[in-house]
Amino acid sequence: MMGRLTNKVALITGGASGMGREMVDLFTKEGAQVIAADINEKAVAKVNELDNVYGTLLDVSSDESWKKMMDTVIEKFGRVDILVNNAGISTEKQINDTTLADWQLMLSVNGFGPFLGMKHVVPYMVEEGKGAVVNISSFTAQIGMGLNAYSASKGAVRAISKAAATQYGRMGVRVNAIFPGIIETPMTQKLEESKELVNQMVKATPLQRLGQPADIANAVLYLASDEASYVTGAELVIDGGYSAQ
Ligand SMILES: NC(=O)c1ccc[n+]([C@@H]2O[C@H](COP(=O)([O-])OP(=O)(O)OC[C@H]3O[C@@H](n4cnc5c(N)ncnc54)[C@H](O)[C@@H]3O)[C@@H](O)[C@H]2O)c1
Repeated sequence: MMGRLTNKVALITGGASGMGREMVDLFTKEGAQVIAADINEKAVAKVNELDNVYGTLLDVSSDESWKKMMDTVIEKFGRVDILVNNAGISTEKQINDTTLADWQLMLSVNGFGPFLGMKHVVPYMVEEGKGAVVNISSFTAQIGMGLNAYSASKGAVRAISKAAATQYGRMGVRVNAIFPGIIETPMTQKLEESKELVNQMVKATPLQRLGQPADIANAVLYLASDEASYVTGAELVIDGGYSAQ
């Protein structure tokens, strides 16, 4: 049976956990060969055991690490059709608690990460005359949620996605961004320990629940597939209506 991603090679950063891991499962189910790149060595070894998944170590904030990984990826698979810049870290620190080192770390993983991803992967897509990039930003890039350095890093992802969409469209490469609300993954585990906070968030959300990794993975699948062949520079908010209020 033809899947929605049959014959596609897809590279997913942060593919070893949370929504990235969900994408790995969905993409392979839809026929893709997946490269799951992550900084978590143990989790990489685990995804590497899955059929049609190549688990590889990558620090998205390191130019050198991207270069090394892409040399191997191209040698093994010849090209990359889909890049999902999903790896990220979070912090709850407010501006007054944030050190310069905190700020720099946040920007280097969440901001440089997608930039380096596009820098190292898009040239191979341009060579093929086609490709799809999906960048995972956050609803905190669009509304004030008090998560300063995190919001700033995700704002960078929002801006660079639009810029890249206009730059690469004529070369056949589409770039879109997704803005998740609160999704239940290991990243939000700590927040979810507070029943009160979860209740508050659920109550404040028009669709009356938190998001699940599949809510994001399904949208990434659409944007990454040829079904979205006329979609570039789009911003898709997936937050149960929270930021529409
Ligand atoms: N969970 C949410 O509520 C939420 C909301 C909005 C946006 N996001 C964003 O979605 C993305 C996925 O988050 P998640 O909730 O699945 O979190 P997660 O913590 O479950 O997964 C993130 C993955 O990224 C990896 N990673 C971290 N730093 C890395 C680095 N330097 N290089 C390579 N890999 C690295 C981690 O090892 C982990 O496997 C992140 O960019 C996050 O900021 C999450």
